[in-house]
Amino acid sequence: MKVFRNNKKECALDHWNAIETQPISTLTALFENSADRVERFSHEQSGIYFDFSKTHLDSALLENFQQLAADKGLSEQIEALMNGVAINISEGRAAEHTAERGIGAETSVENAGLLRNRMLGLIEAIEASAFGDIEHIIHLGIGGSALGPELLLEALKLGDEKYQTAIISNIDGCALEPVLERFDAHKTLLVIASKSFTTAETFLNARSVTDWMTEQGVVDPFGKIIALTAMPDKAVEWGVDENRVLPFSDTVGGRYSLWSSIGFSVALTLGIDVFDDLLAGAAEMDRHFKDTSFDRNIPVIAAFCDQYYSQVRNCETRAVFAYDERLKLLPDYLQQLEMESNGKSVTADGKPLDRHSSPIVWGGVGTDAQHAVFQLLHQGTHLVPVEFLAVIEPGHSLASEHHHGLLLNCFAQGAALMTGKKSDDPNRNYPGNRPSVTLLLDDLDGKTLGALIAFYEHRTFANAVLLGINPYDQFGVELGKEMANALLAGDGNQMDSSTETLKNRAFPA
Ligand code: F6P
Repeated sequence: MKVFRNNKKECALDHWNAIETQPISTLTALFENSADRVERFSHEQSGIYFDFSKTHLDSALLENFQQLAADKGLSEQIEALMNGVAINISEGRAAEHTAERGIGAETSVENAGLLRNRMLGLIEAIEASAFGDIEHIIHLGIGGSALGPELLLEALKLGDEKYQTAIISNIDGCALEPVLERFDAHKTLLVIASKSFTTAETFLNARSVTDWMTEQGVVDPFGKIIALTAMPDKAVEWGVDENRVLPFSDTVGGRYSLWSSIGFSVALTLGIDVFDDLLAGAAEMDRHFKDTSFDRNIPVIAAFCDQYYSQVRNCETRAVFAYDERLKLLPDYLQQLEMESNGKSVTADGKPLDRHSSPIVWGGVGTDAQHAVFQLLHQGTHLVPVEFLAVIEPGHSLASEHHHGLLLNCFAQGAALMTGKKSDDPNRNYPGNRPSVTLLLDDLDGKTLGALIAFYEHRTFANAVLLGINPYDQFGVELGKEMANALLAGDGNQMDSSTETLKNRAFPA
């Protein structure tokens, strides 16, 4: 296994300094001073029009960020990422999600192809009724084993699918119970998605589903289980027949895993062609990220914008608003992708990080959010860089007023944030000069969505490289798990008095 070493000479401090001290124009001045700003500060890639003209980036900032990226070894790190080099240093392994879409070390691409064929074989067997009459699918998983598949299903389902698929993540029975009430146990396939095959929530839910199957008279509930995991032995040990285990490589991170067998329920529900399109769209974005100079490379430019606002303008959050109901789960998905990847306070070599790590990602759907949180965006004291997403082709057949209204509202918000409106009445004054980026998609099909998600993955990686952190581990989640286990085990160790009181109040002795 090749291990990544960054041998670049670091002049990064000089470039940060240049970025931080550069005089800043207002957004309207940037437009006034450059008639072709929109052409120069927008790019088109894989059905995605990326407009960053309403950000404070200008040619000088772009130039300095490119120098910074060069000093940070971004090109070399992209090459390492896509060649199976062990860039996840703390865990001593590669991060090979791109191999799932055919771009990576030869053996990893080959292996991903073989595992994908195995998944195809199982899908064909289900289609050929090898599991009896299946109408319902319960997909259990949490974090990366649920958020990606759920986003894909919500975004791409047409409503006429052969299977009803429920993705259940929460340990709260309020999530699972209604599904059990609605589904027919005899026609249900249980899909357990867990990279580690140890996650407590997933296995409590799995036990409840198998108990429900037994109660409903299913003779062999374990015969209806499919496991998606990087730990096939653990799945077999748990009782899943090895023919029904769909493994994936442990070099594919949980929040980067929707392209692997973790996407099984998506491929089964939406069809393998849609899944293939997703992979093809993502591969197109991989090639763009790998082969395009930084001045035209959209994940890299998006990372420059992110770094500018979080380091120079001290923005602690970034808001993402999808003006498309089908993408309503995108903010949730991005929260895990970006915050679990880049919410760190040490660099890849274990030194304290002396800059802000990932901003807090939040958001919602337009136009709903306009009537809820946009007050703060337009007039609040926090500066929040906003990201708008919209799709040119509507996902419905209602009157065109719906889609016109939706998209024009989206564009109007970006314009209003930028230009503002002066008033002598302070209550009615809009300061403006508030940045936004717009991603306008031609259509919301498998290919474009694949490219969009890969865009976000690579942007997250580019941000990590600019910060010098490892985006592929997540040790921060372990302590909470450990303490929850201690509480569950009731191992006698006293917690703090607040926690003990809460526990005793909820569960009196
Ligand atoms: O607790 C965090 C985490 O490990 C995520 O990184 C991961 O996506 C999720 O839990 C689920 O893990 P698994 O797929 O191993 O069940």
